[in-house]
Amino acid sequence: MADTEPTTQHLHRRDFAKTAAAMGVAAAVASKGPFVRKAKGAERVVNYAMIGPGSRGRRLLERHLVHMEHGKCVALCDIYEKNLNRALKVFDNEPRAYSDYNELLAQDEIEAVFITVPLFLHFPVMKAALEAGKHVFCEKSLVFTPEEVHALRSLHEAHPELTIQVGLQRRYSLLYQRAKELVDAGVIGDITHIQAQWHRNTNWRRKASQEFEDQFNWRLYRKYSGGLCAELMSHQVDVADWFLDQHPESVMGVGGLDYWKDGRDIYDNIQLIFEYPGGQKLQYSSIMTNRHIAGRRVPGDGCRETILGTDGAIELTLIPYGDGLLYPDVMKVKMEDQAKQEKDGENWVAGATVALDTAEQGDGFPIDPEAIDPAQVGFIEKELFFAKTWAYHKGILRPSETVDPEYAELSSFLNDVASGSRPLAGIEVGLQDSVAVMLANLAMDEQRKVKFSEIDSMGVEGVNVSSAKGRNGAA
Ligand SMILES: NC(=O)c1ccc[n+]([C@@H]2O[C@H](COP(=O)([O-])OP(=O)(O)OC[C@H]3O[C@@H](n4cnc5c(N)ncnc54)[C@H](O)[C@@H]3O)[C@@H](O)[C@H]2O)c1
Repeated sequence: MADTEPTTQHLHRRDFAKTAAAMGVAAAVASKGPFVRKAKGAERVVNYAMIGPGSRGRRLLERHLVHMEHGKCVALCDIYEKNLNRALKVFDNEPRAYSDYNELLAQDEIEAVFITVPLFLHFPVMKAALEAGKHVFCEKSLVFTPEEVHALRSLHEAHPELTIQVGLQRRYSLLYQRAKELVDAGVIGDITHIQAQWHRNTNWRRKASQEFEDQFNWRLYRKYSGGLCAELMSHQVDVADWFLDQHPESVMGVGGLDYWKDGRDIYDNIQLIFEYPGGQKLQYSSIMTNRHIAGRRVPGDGCRETILGTDGAIELTLIPYGDGLLYPDVMKVKMEDQAKQEKDGENWVAGATVALDTAEQGDGFPIDPEAIDPAQVGFIEKELFFAKTWAYHKGILRPSETVDPEYAELSSFLNDVASGSRPLAGIEVGLQDSVAVMLANLAMDEQRKVKFSEIDSMGVEGVNVSSAKGRNGAA
């Protein structure tokens, strides 16, 4: 799992047992089990199409969809012939090919569409698809402008029978679901802060002639793209919303275009603070000049979410693979013990000055996405559970997800279409996530604290939406 063997110097048997037990308690509390609905037992085969099989779309086709027996790709559409042909090859040229998505959507045999076009086209394509009676899986972030937030909600109300799912795959990760169970079981106490970052050392630029500059490098320009907020932060603000069971009330931040000055107009570094109704804060950072993560055992891709509670912390990442660590607050336990030991019953431990050894948090316990409840199983299984957990901590074994979250989100979508059940990452998850993207950009553009309630009056007919127009291209 790790590049270096983790030290166990500060890990005490008692702490380990306490944490392992706590993780078991969480398993007992969580009765629902994994939320992934697997292909097995699928009701029928769903005929689907994809619109915009570029980089993301082809990955979803090649890695996942082509292997699913409960879905059949019957049509593909792309305005760029090379991408269309590459995607067709995945299915030995079986699907029908289109360059106009309206023509594709007119085909009755298509029940569902995967929409993987650039962000500024999500809504027009989704609208056409819903009006043509198709179920929709659309990549994040779901919509681009305040107008589209309201318009998509109205479209959904007009077509409630049609599934709308957004491509926020962490919601389908067994590891993240497990971490959420631990949080809900109170293992890290009350969440007060979340820190998330996605640091990379890449410039996002694709080689393109002048003719294809906008088409290939749409991500770099505000008229097509929400920049770092839409491309990266959208995943992580959604984790914060999910783990806190709330949406932010306000956001403030600073964005800069300070390094990649190559004609783009999106920020290349952003620092944001979101406030939630209970006073919790999400502190967010995304940069494009360095991918380092301070203190983590796994170098990863500079991407992580750290959930800080009053009794401990959970650190998660899905990049390059799912990995999660639980850090019980060892210092807090020690201070409580010390206070109990005071002979005269007085507690003079304020915790303002902490000796190094008591401040040490240790290496963290790897979170097993498929942990069992030790209280519910027999002796051998229980011993195996503790042995496995110990081996994880020593770095001998690495817990891993048995279902790739991307596979899970796509498979789940097909099953939801077939069965009529509701997706985990449905329209409201997608819309709230998009609102966070838009308002975070607005806060940085206007250098002010933006309230989330402002979205209600933005993009509504007859209301002045000029403040949102610059960034989000409100029509
Ligand atoms: N969930 C994730 O982790 C994740 C990862 C990467 C990208 N994405 C999202 O996926 C979307 C696509 O990103 P990408 O990197 O694949 O972009 P891309 O530029 O590689 O691909 C977009 C494709 O859409 C095609 N296209 C453009 N206009 C079209 C039209 N009118 N009709 C049909 N096809 C059209 C383009 O020719 C291209 O092939 C973005 O919204 C992005 O944010 C999500």
